[in-house]
Amino acid sequence: MARILTGIQASGKPHLGNILGAILPAVQLSQDPKNESFLFIADLHSMTTVKDADALKENTLAVAAAWLACGFDTEKNYFYRQSRLAGYHTELMWYLNCLTPFPMLANAHSFKDKSDKLSDVNAGLFTYPVLQAADIVLYQANFVPVGKDQKQHLEMSKDIAAAFNRTYGEAFVLPEPKIDENVMTIPGIDGQKMSKSYGNYIDIFLPEKQLYKVIKKIVTDTTPLEEPKDPDTCNVFALFKLMASEAQVAEMRQNYEGGNYGYGHAKKTLFDLILEKFAKERELYNYYMENTQELEAKLKAGEEKAELIAKATMLKVRELLGFID
Ligand code: TRP
Repeated sequence: MARILTGIQASGKPHLGNILGAILPAVQLSQDPKNESFLFIADLHSMTTVKDADALKENTLAVAAAWLACGFDTEKNYFYRQSRLAGYHTELMWYLNCLTPFPMLANAHSFKDKSDKLSDVNAGLFTYPVLQAADIVLYQANFVPVGKDQKQHLEMSKDIAAAFNRTYGEAFVLPEPKIDENVMTIPGIDGQKMSKSYGNYIDIFLPEKQLYKVIKKIVTDTTPLEEPKDPDTCNVFALFKLMASEAQVAEMRQNYEGGNYGYGHAKKTLFDLILEKFAKERELYNYYMENTQELEAKLKAGEEKAELIAKATMLKVRELLGFID
């Protein structure tokens, strides 16, 4: 049995890029009977940049609804908000802070990047990787699937956990990152990587009309309708290819190359595919957002389950630290 753990920042409603690139692969991994997945909303981490309580709450619900809508099984796995187990996470963070060399944090790329860009350079940004280490080792995770940008944070987590084990005795499993090098890059409607910060994302949970409007905005060239088109340089085709069956892809390719097929047609076909492919997810997402008490109930149940594990780790940690009589 392997424990897989990952934290998701509560930075808003997940878009198609997040869903195809992160959520669906993680849900698939969590379905393997040999794995046990810990998935939590890193709302304490989000506080380093988001200073609006209502926004954080809304984002947390949207992220949770999206994961549930995409099939994350909260009975088999663990699904929780970091803030609701903050006692454990932050207590452990303190112990780990006292084992983390200052230069390790000062040299973190993510801290340097953020402190160059943000006007609010707070201590939370600086100690962010220590909280992340606590998140991971608290649940004795074996593997942590993350994007390439998190590689250094994961190295720090492992170093910090090893420092604890060396100093006080074996308390933690040393976590290994699981970085998928060939993770798909999902293009946005302007052809750049789909990202919230570029404003080029597709929100698949929008009502139909609004969703179609976004699809219609996908940037294409000006080849006239009658002329043959190159599917391999087209953003609509690139997105279609990520979700369609082989036969559907072959058919669209033929249409492009044959001429008398406009980008409007291709966009309509892409729109229909999204509606068909994500019909269940769209319905479930909206259901949860309209019935947030059910969402809350699932999170609370997950938090109770996760707490048992967190508590067991902390008992051991306090004992090793000499804090238990
Ligand atoms: N730093 C991660 C990110 O920005 C989020 C995160 C917080 C995380 N705690 C974690 C990821 C623990 C993996 C494990 O994506």
